[in-house]
Amino acid sequence: MTVPAPLPFRVGQGWDSHRIETGRPLILGGVHIPCDFGLAGHSDADVLFHAITDAILGALAAGDIGMHFPDTDPAWKNAGSLQFLRHALQLAAEQSYRIANIDSTIILERPKLSTFRSAIRTAVSRAVDLPETAVSVKFKTAERVGPVGEGLSCEAQALVVLVFQS
Ligand code: C5P
Ligand code: MG
Repeated sequence: MTVPAPLPFRVGQGWDSHRIETGRPLILGGVHIPCDFGLAGHSDADVLFHAITDAILGALAAGDIGMHFPDTDPAWKNAGSLQFLRHALQLAAEQSYRIANIDSTIILERPKLSTFRSAIRTAVSRAVDLPETAVSVKFKTAERVGPVGEGLSCEAQALVVLVFQS
């Protein structure tokens, strides 16, 4: 059987959601956001890193984050999500793929995140070894509708394009 040639590009999509909880830190894209609440989760609950990690895994058709890092495994309790992201990048590199660009959106009712845009972009670009011009981080409220809008949760979405380099 002939092995198909690698695709020149692969696109992946990721989505994640975490419950808002007091007494937890709010970490978005590796940046600690000063806030009176944080996000619940087995790991550090970095919803943006989780969405980007799932987008990379999706582009590779390599399953999802929970498959690689089960939240039932005590090894990942309070784990830094950077290692999840790094693992996905490593899988991509093993197949000779690198990230071309990332577009992402964090949906959170409050606080305003725009003052942290630069810090989050810098942190994400460092995490994935990309120039900041290749990393987009957008913010939206949910217009007070649904769990995000009612301040119960925070969501993140990410799109990633991988390029094959021979
Ligand atoms: O959701 P909405 O369209 O009302 O958001 C307006 C703008 O507010 C967004 O484009 C974004 O720049 C900013 N925003 C923010 N922090 C949030 C939500 C939105 O800075 N948590
Ligand atoms: Mg998550």
